[in-house]
Amino acid sequence: MDRPYTILSCAMSIDGRIDDTSPERLRLSNEADFAEIDELRAGCDAILVGAGTLRVDNPRLLVRSPLLREHRREQGRTENLLKAVLTRGGDVDPGARFFSTGDAGAVVYTGGPGVATATERLAGRPDTDPPAEVVDAGDPPTAEAILNDLAGRGVTRLLVEGGGHIHTLFLTSGLADELRLAVAPFLVGEQDAPRFVLPGAYPYSPQTPMRLVEARALGGIAVLRYALNPGER
Ligand SMILES: NC(=O)c1ccc[n+]([C@@H]2O[C@H](COP(=O)([O-])OP(=O)(O)OC[C@H]3O[C@@H](n4cnc5c(N)ncnc54)[C@H](OP(=O)(O)O)[C@@H]3O)[C@@H](O)[C@H]2O)c1
Repeated sequence: MDRPYTILSCAMSIDGRIDDTSPERLRLSNEADFAEIDELRAGCDAILVGAGTLRVDNPRLLVRSPLLREHRREQGRTENLLKAVLTRGGDVDPGARFFSTGDAGAVVYTGGPGVATATERLAGRPDTDPPAEVVDAGDPPTAEAILNDLAGRGVTRLLVEGGGHIHTLFLTSGLADELRLAVAPFLVGEQDAPRFVLPGAYPYSPQTPMRLVEARALGGIAVLRYALNPGER
């Protein structure tokens, strides 16, 4: 399949949690790590998150650095990335910052009854908002269908920024190329805190592990990069 080069990025605690259960977002990165992620974003064409992340964090998913945005403009690209969200049920908030910010538009990947629900939810958005499209990616939606559709939109490099359900989908599918983990030097220790991944049938076993390509300290954060593609392991 002709698909985008796919990078998964996640910041987690030592006990593998990507947030805690408090209403405020848990800070798992430092400024240096945020700057690296911003560069990673700027080098991609699209960014994907799960509907859970949209509901909890209400993220903008923009390129933060004016210099990086300018660099993209000079290359004839949009300042920001095409945004994508994955939802089974299609219940996305049309007023979310995900839909109202940026200059490259957004795609909602869903399937089954989710298509009608998402289409209805997005119908009343202001004309001034960037375009947003609902795409049927199967029932249930698959990583393969999403990657195919993104490839058809000219996306050659995709950044997947979580949360845990979306990382689980891409890691079990074996359709990702790179994993970047930022590990914060503490434990969350809460039973119900969201996890980096859920139980699943992963192709990365002790016999067929990922390949560690980089491990370094960024202040107190450990940055780990793994190659996932069998050809690159
Ligand atoms: N530290 C980090 O790097 C990082 C990054 C991102 C998010 N987070 C945190 O992660 C938490 C959210 O993670 P999460 O795991 O709960 O949610 P998530 O992975 O962002 O999204 C889960 C939602 O995605 C949809 N979904 C899941 N599997 C699907 C599939 N196979 N096909 C189609 N849709 C599917 C469902 O949406 P519907 O319910 O709409 O059907 C599901 O509720 C938040 O606390 C956020 O702060 C942390």
